[in-house]
Amino acid sequence: MNIIWHKSTRQIHLCNRRISYIMYVQPNGELGQLYFGKKLHDKDDFTYLSYRGQKSHVCGEAASEDFSMELNRQEYPSFGGTDFGTPAYEISYADGSMIGKYTYVDHLIFKGKKPLPGLPATYGSEEEAMTVEITMHDELRNVYIVLSYTIFDDYPAIARSVRFINRSDNQIVLNRVLSLCMDLSDLNYEMIQFSGAWARERIPIVRKINSGITAVESRRGVSSANQNPFVILKRENTNEFVGEAIGFSFVYSGNFLAQADADTYGRLRFLMGIHPDGFKWPLSKDEEFSTPEVVMVYSDQGLNYLSQTYHKLYNKNLVRGVWKERPRPILLNNWEATFMNFTEADILKIAAKAKEAGAELFVLDDGWFGARDNDYAGLGDWVENTKKLPDGMKGLAKKINELGLEFGFWIEPEMVNPDSDLYRKHPDWSFSVPGRKPSLGRHQLVLDFSRKEVVDYIYNMLFKVIDGANIAYIKWDMNRTISECFSHEGGALKQGMIYHKYVLGVYSLYKRLITAFPDILFESCASGGARFDAGMLYYAPQAWCSDNTDAVDRLLIQTGTSYGYPVVSIGSHVSAVPNQQTGRSTPIDFRANVAYFGTFGYELDLNHISEEEFEQVKKQIMFMKENRELIQYGDFYRLITPYDNNMCAWMVVSEDKKKALFGCYVLRANVNAITARVKLCGLDPDAIYTIGNHSYFGDELMQVGVVLDARNAPGFTIGEDYKSIVLTINT
Ligand code: DGJ
Repeated sequence: MNIIWHKSTRQIHLCNRRISYIMYVQPNGELGQLYFGKKLHDKDDFTYLSYRGQKSHVCGEAASEDFSMELNRQEYPSFGGTDFGTPAYEISYADGSMIGKYTYVDHLIFKGKKPLPGLPATYGSEEEAMTVEITMHDELRNVYIVLSYTIFDDYPAIARSVRFINRSDNQIVLNRVLSLCMDLSDLNYEMIQFSGAWARERIPIVRKINSGITAVESRRGVSSANQNPFVILKRENTNEFVGEAIGFSFVYSGNFLAQADADTYGRLRFLMGIHPDGFKWPLSKDEEFSTPEVVMVYSDQGLNYLSQTYHKLYNKNLVRGVWKERPRPILLNNWEATFMNFTEADILKIAAKAKEAGAELFVLDDGWFGARDNDYAGLGDWVENTKKLPDGMKGLAKKINELGLEFGFWIEPEMVNPDSDLYRKHPDWSFSVPGRKPSLGRHQLVLDFSRKEVVDYIYNMLFKVIDGANIAYIKWDMNRTISECFSHEGGALKQGMIYHKYVLGVYSLYKRLITAFPDILFESCASGGARFDAGMLYYAPQAWCSDNTDAVDRLLIQTGTSYGYPVVSIGSHVSAVPNQQTGRSTPIDFRANVAYFGTFGYELDLNHISEEEFEQVKKQIMFMKENRELIQYGDFYRLITPYDNNMCAWMVVSEDKKKALFGCYVLRANVNAITARVKLCGLDPDAIYTIGNHSYFGDELMQVGVVLDARNAPGFTIGEDYKSIVLTINT
């Protein structure tokens, strides 16, 4: 990797073995974009890439009439100048003007990557990453903007963020501070967004880019189940295996905007950052504001390669702590088995059976604290309910440990029920508009985490429960989105800061807990997958993917999630049938074959399944123990996606290509079906692989495929609904 400054032409070229990113100082001093894509040879001058041939409406701002901000591609366009496209930022200055003009001052190139204060971000050593910070200045206003770009040695990836520094004597207000603007030189793209709702999160939708705006966003205070802060721009012909695509992943867990603006001269502007709605951030003299970062990945080898890049980059350079690159424990969670209705004896009985099956970790879900017997009460009172846990968390942890299992439990620290001691004591600690009745969601309100005292209070309560007990795991839930986001502290000027300060408060609590308890494995959750984003992964290396545990629906949800997030981060469990969300019954091997491609665990009482199924469960756990390293950290391929399909096929291959696993799922039985063949991927064409009793060359498996009949895929007979196989492929 390298970052080269061409002094004579004032161009900056970031490159590694795979990609080039080239910018330049435009004739008017503002920063322009020249190229992002497959690696180019370096040279002094790429200015010809800026020329667009058309005549613009307003030329201005430079000596030559040929120069136009509107027709050139910009790095970080302002509001109110001659660019006319969607601005990346907008600032209100003391005189009421919102018109900025920031010109190049200097730049700093260094090895490695700096952390972002208070925010999650990718990191990289001096060998892994290189950064350029470009300082821009508005002389009239004496405000600086520092644009930061990090290129990673091993990946076709660039991380970007922006810092605002006010050096003027006047207060300014940041109205809009997006993290990234990427101007592309043609409009021939489609946008893949990952959309849904509770229980149907992250389903890919492809939209053709047309003149004007194509956008997804969240104003729910969390990244949301409805739209994910990860999108892909791809060429029309790009598929899983070939073609160009650019991914944009926002390392942030709150309101966001991801927007493509296709102008009428063929310039495609893509922007991503904190949603400007409801955002106003005052900056006094010498104060700074840093945006969260966006990680862009370029692929010229289709969507699988794009996803694999995110998987590896996030596993190696975003996830942190002792769980980084470690296979995950096989757990049993009691939620769907008992809901909040349990005694300690019930819990121990479920845990003992989980141990007998071979599980490694027991997780006690919601219902262990305060007056929490249903979801009307208790949130905020993080003290053990001794009717349910007579010896407290410490006592239960000890008893579970004595069974031979690790122990973990559930929390929902950001919430309060009006029926709780905390709310009775501090009614002003939750969001609400003075003089109006606040809206409830799941009978609860959102605590005002923009206030340090609130975060401190919750931290201290949780600390008491965790400290001294032997806790291996925590599931951190968040079951309602934010409305009426008004803080009772701070006055009028602060209200535009609250959404973002809330997210910073959540991150600060995470940071304090992971620092105090560095060995605990955190799993994030928000009514399932409503906060599955790269920001959360920095603190919690895995996330509960969806409250929908139906294996058929999980094929869609887990496939969608895999586009932007590593397999090892996808919380996936086998649950009871009929499924509690869909009412569907699928065989237990089908449920496990789907759940293997994630963290793997169980969400049911194993005392309530048949002897025969219990024997299967034991085998499943053994299988996962043998293969989890490969599944969770191998190269993952979507061979056949389940959307508008009766079939789905996934595959993982080890880095040395010696081992692979192939998972294949058929939903509805086909009568008199034609034998299906699925072509594998990522193998060594010259190596000989065995599947069961058969041997094949790698090229055969990739060019011809696995023939799905009873001889080659034992047990895989078409003739029943919900058939599946997972084949091990070894050299
Ligand atoms: C929602 C989560 O997604 C579930 O798994 C469970 O933890 C419940 N909340 C508990 O209230």
